[in-house]
Amino acid sequence: MLNPLLGNAMNSVEDDPSSRAKYLRTEVNRHDYSYHVLDNPTISDFEYDKLFYELKKLEIEHPDLRTLDSPTRRVGGAPLAEFSQVKHKIPMLSLGKAQTNDQLKNWVKGIQKELGDTESFQIAADLKFDGLAVNLRYEDGILVQASTRGDGETGEDVTENIRTIRTIPLQLGLLFPPKILEVRGEVVMFKEDFERLNQKQRKSKSKEFVNPRNAAAGSLRLLDSKITAQRNLKFFAYGVGSIEDEYVPKTHDELLRWYKEMRIPVCDKRKVVNGVLALLNYYKEIESVRDDLDFEIDGLVYKLNDFSLQRQLGYRDREPRFAIAHKFPAEIIETVLLDIEVQVGRTGAITPVARLVPVFVGGVTLTNATLHNEEEIQRKDIRLGDAVFVRRAGDVIPEVVASILEKRSADSRPFVMPLQCPVCGSTIVKPEGEAIARCSGGWIKCVAQRKGGLFHFASRKAMNIDGVGEQLIDQLVDKQVVTTAADLYKLGLTSLVALDRMADKSAQNILAALEVSKETSFARFIYALGIRHVGESTAKDLATTFANADALIAATEEQLLAVSDVGPVVAKSILAFFADSLNVELVQQLLASGIHWPVVEQKGGGSQHLLGSTFVLTGTLPSLSRDQASAMIESAGGKVAGSVSKKTSYVVAGDDAGSKLVKAQELGIPLLTEAELLQLCSRN
Ligand code: IVH
Repeated sequence: MLNPLLGNAMNSVEDDPSSRAKYLRTEVNRHDYSYHVLDNPTISDFEYDKLFYELKKLEIEHPDLRTLDSPTRRVGGAPLAEFSQVKHKIPMLSLGKAQTNDQLKNWVKGIQKELGDTESFQIAADLKFDGLAVNLRYEDGILVQASTRGDGETGEDVTENIRTIRTIPLQLGLLFPPKILEVRGEVVMFKEDFERLNQKQRKSKSKEFVNPRNAAAGSLRLLDSKITAQRNLKFFAYGVGSIEDEYVPKTHDELLRWYKEMRIPVCDKRKVVNGVLALLNYYKEIESVRDDLDFEIDGLVYKLNDFSLQRQLGYRDREPRFAIAHKFPAEIIETVLLDIEVQVGRTGAITPVARLVPVFVGGVTLTNATLHNEEEIQRKDIRLGDAVFVRRAGDVIPEVVASILEKRSADSRPFVMPLQCPVCGSTIVKPEGEAIARCSGGWIKCVAQRKGGLFHFASRKAMNIDGVGEQLIDQLVDKQVVTTAADLYKLGLTSLVALDRMADKSAQNILAALEVSKETSFARFIYALGIRHVGESTAKDLATTFANADALIAATEEQLLAVSDVGPVVAKSILAFFADSLNVELVQQLLASGIHWPVVEQKGGGSQHLLGSTFVLTGTLPSLSRDQASAMIESAGGKVAGSVSKKTSYVVAGDDAGSKLVKAQELGIPLLTEAELLQLCSRN
């Protein structure tokens, strides 16, 4: 294909070095774009490397050929002593904020008033990228300078570092580039790269970054651009500074389309709309997919689409009146850590929990957050009385991310893990090499473990006993009506109605639910026992390997290790569980109370034609429940996973399928309807 950028550039080896270098630069830059921005490589790595090293060699032989737009600069240069200052030709301002719908409505009203009562103006809605703002200056299509926003008037020259960002073009992809173009946008770090970076920091015992924005800022402001080059930063354009060209876009939308044409990365998630209602709808839409994005955003930015109308509205108090940020409720919140208490889980695991000065955020009051474990507290150097950052995002449990050291007071105190379980007084032990401390009381001594174990036993994925939740278990254990799971099946109407707030009807429902739960599967039963390290999937593997409970109880280490997914740690844990005669007795009592399951074929017996295939279920299927569909897949040897990846074999999509469907389509993974799944599972 003829590259319009090259004109009739020659590319034979007899070329003079200067035109050969020009050809190579353009080619490598073009392939970089296909690979890093379009995710669609146009040549093999081998071919790419050949071009790259030929260019590198030429530049070594002829140093004057190493131009500013040479891709060989992407690896970073010699460390700088300091950044020089850059005065922005046009200031980089900040935006006014709308935190509520009313504030947003007022902003739109203000525009309507100024423009004469009309709703017809268009508003461009962009994502508000959570990174740091930069200005990229292109002269005659070549990136000559990049600077941070700084105080808006003066920033720092980060050109060397910006050149290492592979999605930023070093030369614009236009045959006739503008004389001057200043592209404004945000440098961000993708969530995945952030996690990877922090893992690396942890390993090398270096300080972790609080969030992707800090990591992006820290990485861009490194004096050693060779390190920046390893951080895989990304960039999205959203605005323009100085511009000198015959063509000047008339709207924001036109500007971003033009950018795309010249290979400047622009986020495709954006919309041009009319009126407040459409803005609010788009806000909701983006809020619902926020967690699925590759990068963090903290809201949306709305701008009048028409540049001439933007000029008409102008600025007030150094903020544009034509644009506003519509923020999402904060995910990282600052508060104070009052105290650390420890909670005891069903396996005795001790989890430190932070008690916080309450903060009202996103419609809820936050008072607690997890601190994971003792090592984490020490590693992050979190002390009682510290000002802290807490992260609350999506469905995950809020966590303390870091202490704000600048605000640490002299009387802050380090956390000391208690030596005894706060619930039962047994010694807390921490086996060598394990991160988690545990209460050594076991469920016999420790009420917290007993309650946790019972709650797990009754939970949906275990015995699925409707109506037996935390509150009921608390009462049953506290009043010593129930000690073990087997006691649940001995409950009668009299003992239940004697509990607080328990009507006759509810008691009858609970008894009925207990009866129903007796008809279960072997896998659920094993999972319900709460053996350490035996999750749902291991329980299923065990259930298809061993014929019945007696066989499992009698299993040797060797037999256990032969089960797929069972390693030495899991095998030891199972052996230890059944070495305790109380546990064996419990199993026997449970079975004697009438718990049973249909005998399924053991591995190798039935058709295992889906062995090696991984399925992901998304949306609502017309007739099968999720559990039923999973059971069907698994009985044919397949696996069911929670998220879509390259390794997924099929995605089964029902109504209202969400981001998993989109991801499957992106990765080209075959989709199945329920009917197709049924067919596939029944095939022999
Ligand atoms: S437009 C006149 N668009 O938000 C200001 N800004 O408080 C024009 N930001 O410092 C800014 N995403 O770093 C704009 N799509 C977007 C943005 C965005 C993030 C940042 C930018 C700026 C801050 C404004």
